[in-house]
Amino acid sequence: MCGIVGYLGEKKATDVILSGLEKLEYRGYDSCGVSFFSNIDNQFITYKDKGRVKHLVEDFNYSLVNHLGIGHTRWATHGKPNQVNSHPHFSRSERFSIVHNGVIENYKELTAKYLPHMKFISETDTEIIANLIEHFTHDLSVEEAIRKTLSLIEGSYALLIIDTTTPHKLYAAKNKSPLLIGVGTDGITLASDVMALIGHAQYYYPIEDKTFTSVTKQANGKYTYELFDIIGKPVTFKLLKIDMVLDEIGKAGYSHFMLKEICEQPSVIRKIMSKYMENDTFFVSPSILSMFEGIDRVYIIAAGTSMHAGFVGKHLLENMPKIPCEVFIASEFAYNPPLLVDNPLFIFISQSGETADLRACLVNVKEQGYKTLTITNVATSTLAREADAYLEIYAGPEIAVASTKAYVGQIVILTILAYLLAPRKPFDLHLELSKVAVSMEAIIDKRDYIHELVKEKITKRNCFYIGRGIDYFTCLEAALKLKEISYIQTEGFAAGELKHGTIALIEEGVPVIAIISQSAINNNTRANIREVTARGANKLVISLENVSDVTDEIILMDVHQLLTPLVTVIPTQLIAFYSALDLNKDIDKPRNLAKSVTVE
Ligand code: G6P
Repeated sequence: MCGIVGYLGEKKATDVILSGLEKLEYRGYDSCGVSFFSNIDNQFITYKDKGRVKHLVEDFNYSLVNHLGIGHTRWATHGKPNQVNSHPHFSRSERFSIVHNGVIENYKELTAKYLPHMKFISETDTEIIANLIEHFTHDLSVEEAIRKTLSLIEGSYALLIIDTTTPHKLYAAKNKSPLLIGVGTDGITLASDVMALIGHAQYYYPIEDKTFTSVTKQANGKYTYELFDIIGKPVTFKLLKIDMVLDEIGKAGYSHFMLKEICEQPSVIRKIMSKYMENDTFFVSPSILSMFEGIDRVYIIAAGTSMHAGFVGKHLLENMPKIPCEVFIASEFAYNPPLLVDNPLFIFISQSGETADLRACLVNVKEQGYKTLTITNVATSTLAREADAYLEIYAGPEIAVASTKAYVGQIVILTILAYLLAPRKPFDLHLELSKVAVSMEAIIDKRDYIHELVKEKITKRNCFYIGRGIDYFTCLEAALKLKEISYIQTEGFAAGELKHGTIALIEEGVPVIAIISQSAINNNTRANIREVTARGANKLVISLENVSDVTDEIILMDVHQLLTPLVTVIPTQLIAFYSALDLNKDIDKPRNLAKSVTVE
């Protein structure tokens, strides 16, 4: 993961870089750093340390004029988060300063072969890159040395490189990890995500794998950039317009991004409807719908929250168009695939579109010639670009690490897809999704009441969610949400399975939250609630009106039975949020996590 930003231009580079790093902190936030060229005394200055970008901004002095720099916010893969392991890293003579997002798989072999006597300062895999470049410059030009290094390193990288002898140049390269070049009227910005380009670039280009860039301030004061492949052949490309505005990535008056994003969900539903409707009917490109023709089975590949959306997607695909579907954890599928049917279709679900576990699967199944479709919130992402086709979620930028609106957006896209593929339409989708948005609004409006329930019920170090069928999938997501931001150990359980072992963990006061949205399982889940309350559990029931009991704590407005996961998840997101708030946790940036996981 890690976020990187570099700038060469007329603005103060450290302003662009530090504000960019703040926007990229969702990618990792255990340490950060910046290197910049001070025009006053012609010196390169590097500040880096363990901790958040806020400290990098507040604890160091940026008063010197500077127009070239690189910065990094880290999610540790090699070596602890500390000052020494923070980026930027230098080559031995300190000629080259680099920041890196990714993992160099063969750094030990390269060290043994090219720099066997080198004593590295940090524990990172990044230092080898800076040192190899420096090593090769003994015989080669800088650009050749960089390209030679790139030809040797295996793994993933988005790299920004400064040669301290040429402060009018900035180099960059990428493979697997994302890197965008942003072109503004007064300079060039390079960053991991378009969010860091907003305000500094009007156009951008997502750099392709194994591509190398050099940005130069020319003698006439103009900023130029060129892209080359690894052997030095110029690459032609087309710039895209940045259409995101700064407002979309602010908190808009909310205390936390997560709360803002929870509250945005009804409007996300409406936005997706508007994006996927033409002449009052739902519309998905015929070329995408035709990908489903003649297939024997859909394989959904995803991780984390997106995988939970995948489970709901399976339910929708099997119940509406009746297409068999299996859901796989991406990191498992990558190296332990099942026996596939003859005509599969692979659907990759990913908020970020960058998750390395998914990309490993995508590369693999594409090599086998199978059809691939990505569902993502980021249309410019790697998984969107590399699959045969993609469907955009249109949830808007999701900043909180814990995914909420993107999850709901993924399910809506899967619903539209399943609906359009169904030969007989089971309901009026526009009407039913509109009801979903209203039901969501009603419970979001009651969030203070949910906060009160949290204070009363979520009082232990552990918690259970139970449900059956489609509600079980929501339980898995609800449990993940609660544990990832409050650190309360939570399990999502199939309600009927609890008694086969895990019920041993139920003791006085342990919260058990039950989700009931379907009449077919209402009595059974209620029997399971009685089993746990008889053993001291503190129950909290989330139900829909048509299956509710007067003793239920949260009752949601009815929606179509296939769409209930879109509404039952909302109170669980609020339960997670308020539990973490009361425990004084860092809700938007939970410990050890990152939003975009670009390492396997
Ligand atoms: C990380 C995030 C999770 C997310 C998962 C998959 O682990 O912390 O919230 O669900 O990655 O991310 P994706 O971008 O592929 O949906």
